[in-house]
Amino acid sequence: MKIEIPNKIPDHFKEYWPGYYDYFSHYEEALGIPHVLFLITTVKDNGKPNVAFGGWSSFKGDKNGFFALISFSHKSHTYKNIIRDKEFCVNFINWSHIENCWATVKNNDYEKDEIKIGGFTEEKPTVVSAPRIAEAFISLECVMEKEIDISGAGVDSLVIGRVVHAGVDKDYMSGMKKFGKDGFMFYHQELFDFDKNNDGKRRYSHLQTLDD
Ligand SMILES: Cc1cc2nc3c(=O)[nH]c(=O)nc-3n(C[C@H](O)[C@H](O)[C@H](O)COP(=O)(O)O)c2cc1C
Repeated sequence: MKIEIPNKIPDHFKEYWPGYYDYFSHYEEALGIPHVLFLITTVKDNGKPNVAFGGWSSFKGDKNGFFALISFSHKSHTYKNIIRDKEFCVNFINWSHIENCWATVKNNDYEKDEIKIGGFTEEKPTVVSAPRIAEAFISLECVMEKEIDISGAGVDSLVIGRVVHAGVDKDYMSGMKKFGKDGFMFYHQELFDFDKNNDGKRRYSHLQTLDD
């Protein structure tokens, strides 16, 4: 049996905060499709590092290059920094740093160095000017090539960034470390009882290898 979910917010779904469904779709809660998590680093117009927790993304390449496809809220400092400077880094962080990642969301102070706010260590980039995060096991240095307003409503834009350099922690280069609990971290919405409510919370997970 399949539950059919139309393109309309179920009547019993409540807003977590006023205007929640202006920014999110009910499909995000109802489907729970996981997102790999990372920290986006950019430079603020005061020269200080900006950090944002991110996950609405995909990564794909062809013979012409490798690209980060990431959705950014127009309200975020990160979006404004990228549109201005056309550069950013994507830093993949493992679960052991989750509280540090959240610190950058809770203390989103434009005047301050957010790498310090998160308790992270700044690492020099190789090609772009946006700093990298030393604690990341992979950092991608990216140059923005395109921006597409996803729904046309000025809420989120898909930014396509060309990866111009990658830095990888030696311990993660070969083998399975990237794919276990010290590797890529995912999040997804948990839904307790679709028919009755949309209570639930954001949960985290990692990959588990099945074919050994
Ligand atoms: C788990 C998680 C994933 C997120 N993913 C994104 C994302 O991909 N794009 C985005 O614009 N905001 C995302 N956010 C929200 C930003 O992290 C948050 O708005 C942040 O404060 C923006 O920082 P900034 O204003 O310095 O850019 C996410 C938040 C969380 C908690």
